[in-house]
Amino acid sequence: MNPTAQIIVLDAGGQYCHLIARKVRDLGVYAEVCASETPAAELSSAKGIVISGGPSSVYDPDSPTVDPAIFSLGVPVLGICYGQQLMALLLGGEVRKGVKGEYGLATLELDDAADPLFAGLAGTQQVWMSHRDVVGRVPEGFSVIGRTSTCAVAAMAAPARGFYSVQFHLEVVHTTRGKEYLANFAFRVCGCQKDWDVRHRAPMLEQEIRECVGTRNVFFFVSGGVDSSVAFALCTRALGADRVRGVYVDTGLMREGETDFVRRMGNLTVEHAEEQFLTALAGVTDPERKRHIIGEEFVRVQERIIESRRLLDENWILGQGTIYPDTIESGGTAKAALIKTHHNRVAGIQKLMAAGRIVEPLKSFYKDEVRAVGREISLAGELLDRHPFPGPGLAIRCLCSEFDAPLRPTAEGFIVPVHSVGVQGDSRTYAPVLAIDALDHARATELINAISGVNRVIAPVETRVPVGNMQVRACSLTAERLERLRKADGIVRRLTHETGYDHEVWQFPVILIPLGSAESPDSVVLRPVDSVDGMTAQSVLMKAELRERISTELLHVAGVAGVFYDLTHKPPGTIEWE
Ligand code: XMP
Repeated sequence: MNPTAQIIVLDAGGQYCHLIARKVRDLGVYAEVCASETPAAELSSAKGIVISGGPSSVYDPDSPTVDPAIFSLGVPVLGICYGQQLMALLLGGEVRKGVKGEYGLATLELDDAADPLFAGLAGTQQVWMSHRDVVGRVPEGFSVIGRTSTCAVAAMAAPARGFYSVQFHLEVVHTTRGKEYLANFAFRVCGCQKDWDVRHRAPMLEQEIRECVGTRNVFFFVSGGVDSSVAFALCTRALGADRVRGVYVDTGLMREGETDFVRRMGNLTVEHAEEQFLTALAGVTDPERKRHIIGEEFVRVQERIIESRRLLDENWILGQGTIYPDTIESGGTAKAALIKTHHNRVAGIQKLMAAGRIVEPLKSFYKDEVRAVGREISLAGELLDRHPFPGPGLAIRCLCSEFDAPLRPTAEGFIVPVHSVGVQGDSRTYAPVLAIDALDHARATELINAISGVNRVIAPVETRVPVGNMQVRACSLTAERLERLRKADGIVRRLTHETGYDHEVWQFPVILIPLGSAESPDSVVLRPVDSVDGMTAQSVLMKAELRERISTELLHVAGVAGVFYDLTHKPPGTIEWE
């Protein structure tokens, strides 16, 4: 059983709120995420409330809000980014559009405030900002505690009432002292006690599985990812291999060798559905539609397998590797429209849940916590330390285009008319890419801030055709292009594994874009990134020798006209291209 949450994070927009709750748990304090509009009466047992950041402006129609009665509970409240603006507005202050946006690193000047939240933190420090709106006037009873060159109210406080807020994101790793702010809030302001430690949990989880499953058996869809593998292994330990069965669906969107890798986990069968996915995706170019179709087809395959193997008669229940963020993102909060329904929460599954026929041993854990459980039960590092790989697979690393289109020369390079996904101020953007001629991160960052309508910058490593002679071609997801990408990805994985470079980066997507010539229609983009949690990421430059070895091999793949390097940090570019 989990303890009662001491800190509740109110979700004002879904992107960073989980990070806040996870960071609080890392401090040893159990925290949960709730919908921002949760009635105050349901929050009165919390020791502290955090209002998260979010993509809206407080003046947007239907923008998330909180029950104003939370400010009368006598419970301390901390607002972060949008949360600060919402507090300012609801408590009688003023919010306005900033003269310019502030995205990325900033220098905070924090007053020498003798206050529990800011204890030991006064002075100059690096913080991470992502906002356009600012607090113009603080509410009565508040004083301004910190500022940056762009933001006059970077932190404000009304200590007598236990109300605090910051414009910067203290939950991301780039805010170098963020953890101290959270620790001060949890322990000094809210008086929380340590009640959460994810170590030594496996025996408890196994007992919970036995209680939930009873005398029945468990059936799993295993993806090869960390979550479903740990859940599958826990159930196998709890019930014995005879009572647990797994199926792995080959969607045709998997990496080279993946099916064999998963097969080695044992105790499972492989369902081939490559044709079904490719047929459904034929001719589709829009990134969101691709995602949607893949989700739908996956549910169809699941239903077909369950039906055909009569796996859900009264002797069987379904096991899932659902983790905490999956349950919240599909939880029907006011922001649900913004967030994809996770395939572990579609209608058919909800019905099984209502009938008590689902077991989800990891549903209150975050990814890092799942890895800790995996280590506790001695799962191989080869599995637990895998780079994250997106559920929709290679489909979101294989860019499509509706039209043939030439590159557009500019003073800085060439505008490549494909639409890659980016994230600016918490919301997603689809914009073209700028190709420059040098592998220069500083220049890339400068240009991306200066040129509107571009969210990513690439530079060639090596090409068969001069970049200026390339063009973007209309194309969708075909078996041929997926195979090309699979080969390219396989080469990069092999070479980075041999050189140990895979341990130096957090993730290394290899992307196929429809940029090339009539003979060789595609190019490969290398996207090694450093990150802590995937929420923000730095593009990193690998050594020239490895880069050249990789590009030489990639240019031997049939149909590849060039190899490019993605120089974009996140934000403004997401890790995946979609
Ligand atoms: P982005 O592209 O949003 O990705 O910067 C952040 C992290 O999330 C992974 N990702 C996914 N993982 N299903 C997943 O299981 C998905 O649909 C999905 N989309 C993105 C991505 O690989 C990166 O680690």
